[in-house]
Amino acid sequence: MGKTSKDKRDIFYRLAKEQGWRARSAFKLLQAEETFHLLDGVTRAVDLCAAPGSWSQVLSKHMYEPRSPEEREKVKIIAVDLQGMAPIDGVHQLRADITKESTAQAIIEYFEGQKAQLVVSDGAPDSTGMHDFDVYMQGELLLSALSISTFILETGGSLVAKIYRADNTSRLYLQLQRFFKDVCVFKPSASRNSSIEAFVVARQFCLPEGHTPCNLTTEWHKHPETWLVRTTGREPKPVVHVPFVAYKGDLDADRTYDLDEDYVYTEAVQKPLTAAYQDVKQKLGSTNVKYDPIIVIHDEELTKEWREEHKEPADD
Ligand SMILES: C[S@@+](CC[C@H](N)C(=O)[O-])C[C@H]1O[C@@H](n2cnc3c(N)ncnc32)[C@H](O)[C@@H]1O
Repeated sequence: MGKTSKDKRDIFYRLAKEQGWRARSAFKLLQAEETFHLLDGVTRAVDLCAAPGSWSQVLSKHMYEPRSPEEREKVKIIAVDLQGMAPIDGVHQLRADITKESTAQAIIEYFEGQKAQLVVSDGAPDSTGMHDFDVYMQGELLLSALSISTFILETGGSLVAKIYRADNTSRLYLQLQRFFKDVCVFKPSASRNSSIEAFVVARQFCLPEGHTPCNLTTEWHKHPETWLVRTTGREPKPVVHVPFVAYKGDLDADRTYDLDEDYVYTEAVQKPLTAAYQDVKQKLGSTNVKYDPIIVIHDEELTKEWREEHKEPADD
């Protein structure tokens, strides 16, 4: 397959390279911004799970670049990821795990005690290919983004986070509705129709009275049976519905587009600094993970003998 084939099959991948975005996902945040105007007047934003950095580029383009040098000093954008990321103008980087409370403290420290007006999270765990497990892990990462938001978001703030629309999303919607007055699900046209990926757009953050920010997964595991009624005051509902908003654009992420006559191949804007699994690869080095096969011999005589030896004594 030639190197132009992906450019034909994925119009957003091609446009991302041509327009200088590090990843095609930039268009997902751009389309959310066009629909909800979440960045209007925002000067403090957090990009969770940010590498290689296309969402941070969008934040920088909207919040930092258009401002004068004096105004830029008030702008604070912080990008958090487990992996390293090449620098972006106006974006401070923190290499950390979003599931840790210490990461929330480091973000607040960067904001000099203030809180964020916007948190975005495009986080995705490494895919295993086991659908149910991947969906579960994605849900847990969304809960982590929500948990950390309860520490770092100011009243009235917004959260945009990736969600997989599959079974069991009700528990996630319910948690989001606990903390935000307005919750909907957004499907950008840059996200393939064939994919279960979508984004929750949660606005008007408000910490419920008496709630102390904590890890919401741990909270759930500590009080599974009473948690729902105790924390929401509502009886469990099997299905929670939230409004669905789709971005209507001209370009279709699932379609193949012919290349124009004046098309010139463009290289990726920024290759990842650290590849996923890099540590594991390094540790494995020359280690061979193949084991000798275990051979099972079925011998009826031996099996009979073994059964006799291990027979349960009769109850008499
Ligand atoms: C799909 S990529 C994000 C792409 C990014 N929004 C962009 O536009 O370039 C998902 C990222 O989530 C990060 N991630 C996954 N789990 C994380 C965690 N617990 N803490 C921090 N980052 C995490 C991964 O390292 C990966 O870089």
